[in-house]
Amino acid sequence: MDYLELGKTGEKIPKIGMGTWKLSRTGIEALKAGISSGSNFIDTAEMYQTENLVAEVLTEDRDSIFIATKVSPHNLRHDDLIKACDRSLKALGIKTIDLYQIHWPNNSIPISETMSAMEQLVSEGKVRHIGVSNFSLDELKKAQEAMKSAEIVSNQVEYSVTERNPERSGLAKYCASEKITLIAYSPLGSGSIYSKENREIFDKLGAIGSRYGKSAIQSALNWLVSKGNVSAIPKANNPEHARENAGACGWEMSIADINEIDSFL
Ligand SMILES: NC(=O)c1ccc[n+]([C@@H]2O[C@H](COP(=O)([O-])OP(=O)(O)OC[C@H]3O[C@@H](n4cnc5c(N)ncnc54)[C@H](OP(=O)(O)O)[C@@H]3O)[C@@H](O)[C@H]2O)c1
Repeated sequence: MDYLELGKTGEKIPKIGMGTWKLSRTGIEALKAGISSGSNFIDTAEMYQTENLVAEVLTEDRDSIFIATKVSPHNLRHDDLIKACDRSLKALGIKTIDLYQIHWPNNSIPISETMSAMEQLVSEGKVRHIGVSNFSLDELKKAQEAMKSAEIVSNQVEYSVTERNPERSGLAKYCASEKITLIAYSPLGSGSIYSKENREIFDKLGAIGSRYGKSAIQSALNWLVSKGNVSAIPKANNPEHARENAGACGWEMSIADINEIDSFL
């Protein structure tokens, strides 16, 4: 596994973590396989209702796993957020969340109220780091301005070979300059990367991967994390998939190959 610094925290997280949206009960074995392969960063959310499943893999060595969860956009009022965090802590069976993220912005609630609650959770020791998700460049800047005692360390957004909006909107560049980690969600396009419509791209990814003895999926994930400030969180119910995804790291794609994938879209 390769690691990158989370924001400016000095703390390292794996470049390949694991998502848990639509994780099934059998997916617990996939989480275990991923952890054994070095992907000890798990992303969940109160909205996914998978925090209780994640809890089952935390029983043995909680401290070796980086846990990220999210508060839903309807819970961004101060008191609602504090209660949501307590529920997540209970569901996960832990005392502190490593990264607590605002799942989606909610423009009907002042961001200053939400961030004050997030900072309170940090001061109380219930949360270690604050992140956001699905925040546009403008929303991210406004959220940063609302911070008083902590910093935003990450923005989780959709980013993959077939979804380049973070590059086109300037968000990726801004996050790199501010040292805000981009957490790439749906890094396999929720599975669409190997669909019929993306057949040509998938075949090209396979051809590039074969130069390194790697698969098309591993090429797609390696390309993402080669961007330097990016950690990807593919979701797998299948343990073989989780192992394959972890193997997307620990090797370096050439600049020429990165450029070739850049040019696919
Ligand atoms: N912040 C947000 O608003 C937001 C939104 C969407 C997602 N997310 C996060 O991002 C995570 C990942 O995104 P996602 O779940 O949308 O989709 P994804 O990770 O892009 O794709 C998941 C699909 O790819 C398959 N897959 C995974 N590894 C594979 C491999 N090595 N070979 C072949 N197929 C493979 C999975 O199959 P199996 O399950 O059968 O293994 C599943 O069908 C989510 O779980 C969630 O944590 C966040």
